Amino acid sequence: MAEASLCRFGRFRAGLMGVLVALVWGMVGEAPELSAADFALKAGQGCVSSGCHPTMGKDQYVHGPVATGNCVFCHKQATPGRHAFTPITDVASLCYACHDKLQLGPVVHQPVKEGNCTGCHSPHQSGNKFQLRGGGQELCFKCHPRSIINGKVKHGPVAVGDCSACHAHHSGQFPKLLAGKGSDACYGCHKDKQAEFATRPHIHAPMKGGCVQCHNPHSSDYQYTLIGERTKGVCFSCHKDKQKEIAAVTVKHGGLELSTGCLACHNPHTSFFPKQLAMAPMDLCLSCHDRQYSHGEQKTANMKELFATNRNTHGPIKEKDCSGCHNTHGSNFFRILRAYYPPLFYAKYDPQNYQLCFNCHNDTLVKEPTTMTLTGFRNGDQNLHYVHVNKSPKGRTCRACHDAHATNNPNHIRDAVPFGAWQLPVGLVKNKGGGSCLPGCHQEFRYDRAKMVKNR
Ligand code: HEC
Ligand code: HEC
Ligand code: HEC
Ligand code: HEC
Ligand code: HEC
Ligand code: HEC
Ligand code: HEC
Ligand code: HEC
Ligand code: HEC
Ligand code: HEC
Ligand code: HEC
Ligand code: HEC
Ligand code: HEC
Repeated sequence: MAEASLCRFGRFRAGLMGVLVALVWGMVGEAPELSAADFALKAGQGCVSSGCHPTMGKDQYVHGPVATGNCVFCHKQATPGRHAFTPITDVASLCYACHDKLQLGPVVHQPVKEGNCTGCHSPHQSGNKFQLRGGGQELCFKCHPRSIINGKVKHGPVAVGDCSACHAHHSGQFPKLLAGKGSDACYGCHKDKQAEFATRPHIHAPMKGGCVQCHNPHSSDYQYTLIGERTKGVCFSCHKDKQKEIAAVTVKHGGLELSTGCLACHNPHTSFFPKQLAMAPMDLCLSCHDRQYSHGEQKTANMKELFATNRNTHGPIKEKDCSGCHNTHGSNFFRILRAYYPPLFYAKYDPQNYQLCFNCHNDTLVKEPTTMTLTGFRNGDQNLHYVHVNKSPKGRTCRACHDAHATNNPNHIRDAVPFGAWQLPVGLVKNKGGGSCLPGCHQEFRYDRAKMVKNR
């Protein structure tokens, strides 16, 4: 303790001598005031005797002046000789009469600010060190709701009742009396996480506001003291739009229905990839689509195998962008496509039918009966895309000839296309100026871009 306060204790000791010799009255606090006769001064009897305040000084931790029986330093008699005391109105000043002023940081705990030192310290004695009114967390629960630790899952330091592992008691440098701002309050202990997160360039926005946006620092009913169920609930607590979107779609993605929820694809903290993805986008898709799935009637092909055996991949897939056509979180279209695409071999011509393809390709491809520029699939100026797709009443859909993912043929022409139970061959042979087709639809027809071929 500093020199200055020792001086003050000197003053306190001088007063003490007089007290021990002269004081023989008891103190009753809230009890009715006793008559003067009841306080006949008996030599040698102070405030503490078997009849008066008998337990004072007997607890495990006794405050210095109480231990020495100096009651009057704090309790000033209103009228000499009478057991009546001036109420103590300014507790903090009283404490500071003997103690150094607390060195307070910028964030001061409310009871300290209000000078309510006795909210935590008994001025007399207690069973706890520093005459605290409660041991460990019990002190805090005198004023704060115990419910903060009632969650089924308790955070490590809270489980052992150590509030002061994170909070200062008198004052601190940071909000909520913590050891740091935002996530820094956590990194003091979770250094491994800090190091792990720092290596990854993509940071999930709420991390900047601090870990407590998702983790309750005290307790919760969810694993890792999260504020919601780990795999989806916690995400939906903020991503309400996604929740609505996912609930509304008619074609669900099996990838979201697994027990891993959002965490199958997203890292909640930081990531090496945009959109918090757990892997590079296409690797992610193929990490699951490396096998054939089937449920009920539906089969979902092994895409990894398809790409391994079909080398000529479609533009967006070369760019590893499966999301160009599929909406990972589900959609209102067959195969979770982003727009309508006819699921069958035939469809009545309607430009809306090919919205998916025309998100990227020019729809004039199938609109003009004659052209010398719009497509290479022409015989002279006769647009063969128009001929097939725009055919009334049953146009051939793009799928009749093209595969959206990959084939070993030029222009993503398929080897064969399912036609009911039959794999109908497409039979395209290309040459420099055009080509020939011998599909399961008609006899061999040839086309030449420079000079129209007469096929019949
Ligand atoms: C360090 C200052 C201090 C000392 C020394 C001190 N008291 Fe107190 N005491 C207080 C404060 C503060 C209160 C709260 C009541 C108030 O605000 O008036 C109090 C309250 C009391 C009360 C009211 C009931 C209660 O426990 O709250 C009694 C009785 C009492 N003191 C007895 C004593 C006796 C006997 C001694 C000496 C053995 C003593 N006090 C020494 C500060 C002190
Ligand atoms: C009359 C002087 C005096 C007053 C007034 C006084 N104290 Fe003390 N306090 C002491 C002495 C003496 C000690 C014992 C110091 C020691 O053991 O190092 C002590 C010890 C303490 C301790 C324990 C410190 C430790 O390091 O163990 C706390 C806490 C404390 N006082 C709080 C208070 C509070 C709160 C008040 C106001 C309600 C108060 N004191 C008023 C003299 C006083
Ligand atoms: C919210 C509860 C709380 C309040 C209010 C409070 N204290 Fe404390 N105080 C503590 C705790 C807890 C400790 C024990 C710290 C430790 O374990 O190191 C302590 C320790 C002390 C000590 C001894 C150790 C030290 O830091 O010097 C003194 C003296 C003290 N307090 C004085 C005061 C005074 C004076 C006030 C009022 C201005 C006050 N306290 C208000 C909780 C409180
Ligand atoms: C005597 C009553 C009392 C006790 C005991 C007490 N506090 Fe407080 N505390 C308050 C009040 C009053 C506030 C301000 C209102 C609020 O936020 O609830 C407060 C606020 C806080 C805050 C928020 C601070 C901020 O900047 O927003 C934290 C954290 C806190 N207390 C922690 C503790 C811890 C930990 C303990 C136990 C060591 C404790 N308190 C004991 C009364 C108390
Ligand atoms: C692991 C660190 C840690 C521990 C241990 C801890 N807290 Fe906290 N506490 C925090 C953080 C972080 C916040 C800020 C939460 C926020 O900003 O939403 C906080 C906030 C609080 C608040 C203010 C609540 C509010 O809504 O502003 C109180 C009161 C509080 N804690 C009391 C306690 C009590 C009591 C204990 C012991 C049972 C305890 N804390 C243990 C980290 C901790
Ligand atoms: C005082 C040290 C300390 C601080 C500060 C701290 N933690 Fe912890 N945390 C622990 C300990 C100890 C465990 C238990 C470790 C274990 O069981 O492996 C733990 C466990 C966790 C766990 C569960 C980990 C698991 O694998 O089960 C999460 C989540 C967590 N802390 C988040 C946080 C957050 C968020 C913060 C900041 C608000 C924080 N911690 C601050 C010490 C701390
Ligand atoms: C957007 C919400 C969110 C934020 C913000 C967040 N977490 Fe998490 N955290 C989670 C989810 C969800 C899990 C469960 C992950 C899992 O099971 O793979 C988790 C798990 C953890 C775990 C336990 C599993 C592990 O990876 O060791 C720790 C420790 C952890 N978080 C620490 C932190 C820290 C420290 C911060 C702040 C720097 C933080 N978290 C911020 C959502 C979040
Ligand atoms: C505390 C609120 C909060 C929680 C909880 C939360 N997020 Fe976020 N998330 C945001 C904010 C804010 C953004 C940035 C704005 C936006 O894109 O909507 C964001 C962005 C994202 C992004 C896009 C990132 C980018 O680079 O564009 C993904 C993906 C994401 N969150 C997934 C998740 C998942 C998965 C979970 C559950 C583990 C989750 N979020 C929980 C607030 C939250
Ligand atoms: C099967 C993998 C997968 C699952 C599971 C998944 N996502 Fe995504 N998520 C992605 C991909 C890939 C992207 C980026 C491109 C896109 O939009 O398709 C993304 C993007 C996002 C974005 C950024 C905005 C956007 O739409 O581009 C948010 C927010 C998001 N996801 C939230 C969630 C939430 C919440 C869950 C859990 C309900 C979830 N995701 C589950 C793969 C997934
Ligand atoms: C975590 C595993 C997982 C990941 C990652 C994943 N999927 Fe899936 N996907 C599934 C499951 C499971 C099904 C359902 C298969 C079934 O039962 O028929 C499915 C079905 C599909 C279907 C068929 C939907 C239907 O209803 O016809 C498409 C298309 C699809 N996924 C595309 C993707 C794309 C694109 C990605 C990457 C953005 C991706 N998947 C990532 C697991 C996953
Ligand atoms: C150019 C648009 C487009 C792109 C890019 C695309 N797909 Fe597809 N995908 C489709 C279409 C169209 C279908 C429906 C095909 C059919 O039924 O003939 C489909 C069907 C699927 C199916 C179901 C396969 C089946 O029939 O069993 C899966 C799985 C799938 N895609 C995964 C992926 C993955 C993984 C990627 C990225 C590597 C991807 N897709 C990229 C358009 C695309
Ligand atoms: C996300 C954008 C996108 C969508 C959607 C898309 N494509 Fe493509 N497509 C491309 C890109 C990019 C190329 C490569 C262009 C190039 O290399 O000049 C390409 C190339 C092609 C080619 C080969 C062109 C050539 O010259 O060999 C065909 C055929 C094709 N797409 C058909 C389709 C069909 C059919 C659909 C609808 C199922 C479709 N595309 C949907 C972006 C897309
Ligand atoms: C009857 C078969 C057939 C149908 C149906 C068909 N295509 Fe083609 N498509 C071809 C052939 C053959 C080529 C290659 C022509 C060449 O380069 O010799 C081609 C080429 C293309 C190309 C490359 C650029 C070009 O025009 O030369 C694109 C893009 C394309 N088709 C898109 C589509 C889209 C979109 C649909 C549906 C709206 C569709 N195709 C329907 C047979 C077809």
